[in-house]
Order: sequence, then C-alpha cells, then structure tokens
Amino acid sequence: MKTVKIRDKEFSISIGEKDILKAVQKVADRINSDMDGKHPLFIAILNGSFMFASDLFKRLSIPCEISFVKLSSYVGTKTTENVKTLIGLDENIEGRHIIIIEDIVDSGHTIEDILNNLKQYSPASVKVATLLFKPNAYKKNITLDYVGIEIPNDFIVGYGLDYDGDGRNLADIYKIIEK
Ligand code: IMP
Ligand code: MG
Repeated sequence: MKTVKIRDKEFSISIGEKDILKAVQKVADRINSDMDGKHPLFIAILNGSFMFASDLFKRLSIPCEISFVKLSSYVGTKTTENVKTLIGLDENIEGRHIIIIEDIVDSGHTIEDILNNLKQYSPASVKVATLLFKPNAYKKNITLDYVGIEIPNDFIVGYGLDYDGDGRNLADIYKIIEK
C-alpha cells in the first residue's frame, strides 16, 4: 500500500489520479450539457480547489469565465460571531449564471457561507460543483448540483487538499491512518 508521511501523520492512498480525473470528466460532461448557451462564470474557492478547478476548466467546451476567490474568516464584535466574507470577487455577478468550484463539502458550513455571500449580488443562478463530498458529515439541506466522488468521514489530503498547509501537491488523494 502506497503511504506518505505529512508532518506528524501517516496517510495511505485512497483515490488514485486516474479515478480523480474520471470523476472530473463526468462533472465536466454534465456542466457542458446543462450550461449550453449560458456563458457561466465559475468561482473557484482557494486554496483547496485550485487543482480541481484547473482540471475541470480544461474539460469545458462551453464559453465560460473563471474567477478565484478566498474565504476570509474573522471574528465579529461578539466573540460568538464568526462572519466569513469572500475576498477577490471583482466581477459583477448580477444576472450571471454562477458555478462555485469547491474541493470538498464536509459539514456544509463553508458552502452555505459562500452561497449567502453570493446571493446578495443577485446572480441569475448559483450552482455548486464539488470534487468530494462527505454525506455522513453533511448538516445542510443545500443541493450540491455536481458531486465528483462521495467519500467516508476520513480526513484526506492531496490534489489541492492540505493537512496544516502541506500535502496539496500530491496528485492522488490519501486518507489518514488512524492509530
Ligand atoms: P465544511 O465547512 O465543514 O463543509 O468544510 C469545508 C472545508 O473544510 C473545505 O473547503 C476544506 O478546506 C476543509 N476540509 C474538510 N474536510 C477536509 C479533509 O478531509 N481534508 C482537508 N480539508 C478538509
Ligand atoms: Mg476549501
């Protein structure tokens, strides 16, 4: 079994590059057919989604644009307040068809924050494309329009996903070995 050590943890191979790219192709095929004639704007959420965004974007055959944003997390005036805003969105998205590109949806808190942020600018539609989804951790009712691969609740790294900043460079996806 192929394993890697990242910082203090051991990880074993979980999803190989070939299977990742197969899932990316399937998502691209569906988007190409759904968005025919719509000229969507893709919004990729940094840092985690950069590899997925790149591989997905190469497989799109429709006219489309992409923008990269970051989610800032800051604590409000009350200590319980945790407001996340999008940084770097300089396109006017009013009336546009938006597709969010995420690496992974876990509890769903992040994607909910992103959707709430975007909806205030009156886009024509907002869809979500995520490479990975942990259905057993998901706590929201938001529909995830394009899901590449459903995975169990293990912590994973690789293909853009990190453990404490490291591991994003791995072409395959690895899961943590619990000891
Ligand atoms: P959520 O808000 O719980 O859905 O979590 C989403 C964010 O948490 C993702 O954008 C990732 O940055 C991070 N995340 C969730 N699960 C993992 C994982 O297994 N490995 C690395 N990052 C993860
Ligand atoms: Mg992320």
